Amino acid sequence: MKGHRWFAAVYDRMTAPAERGFMKDIRKELAGGASGRVLEIGAGTGANFAYYEDGLEVVATEPDPYMLRRAEARAAESKARIDLKQAPAAKLPVEDASFDTVVGTLVMCSVDDQAEALAEVRRVLKPTGEYRFFEHVRYENPIGGLSQTLIAPLWGWCGAGCHPNRKTVDSIRDAGFEVSRVEVTMPTPPIPPMLFTRPHALGFATPASG
Ligand SMILES: C[S@@+](CC[C@H](N)C(=O)[O-])C[C@H]1O[C@@H](n2cnc3c(N)ncnc32)[C@H](O)[C@@H]1O
Repeated sequence: MKGHRWFAAVYDRMTAPAERGFMKDIRKELAGGASGRVLEIGAGTGANFAYYEDGLEVVATEPDPYMLRRAEARAAESKARIDLKQAPAAKLPVEDASFDTVVGTLVMCSVDDQAEALAEVRRVLKPTGEYRFFEHVRYENPIGGLSQTLIAPLWGWCGAGCHPNRKTVDSIRDAGFEVSRVEVTMPTPPIPPMLFTRPHALGFATPASG
């Protein structure tokens, strides 16, 4: 991946208000509760790294070299042991069934192909493993969903390939996961601007047996 130099440069400043607000609790729950051998996908600038437990071994992957450079600084400050690798979610450089936990926050909006990326998450998780995710998703309301689709080209251009209109929880189920818990926040009104009012899904999924 060539990467998105400017998106990476402004990302932390752009997301700072959300990080000071609701995101810190989400990261505390998802990353703070991660255990065993942990893999993070699309780690970005490393916003989850401060929340992992002391001494936890985390392999953190990120394909964008500009994001990765910023993540290196956060990895050095983390109390967890972060092993950073440059890789897309659809091609993880790790063995089958080798992780207890996969963490992904705000990633499935950006991957090229959700089915491929989720198949990789499933491949690398142990049968007893858990995928912990937080994603912005498509409105269930048809007007909201249509507005997201209409704004998608501009949104993607401004957001380094981000898709605002994906049914990510459905994709997770379709990829062979059982979603054990999911909390979906659907703000109203279901219309743009979506900068501050995107619907989100926070959830926990395990590989379905069979
Ligand atoms: C909105 S940012 C989220 C970053 C971070 N996970 C967070 O919670 O702040 C989306 C991230 O997904 C990464 N990304 C884009 N395409 C990807 C892919 N194919 N596989 C994995 N990550 C990807 C981007 O480089 C970016 O770091």
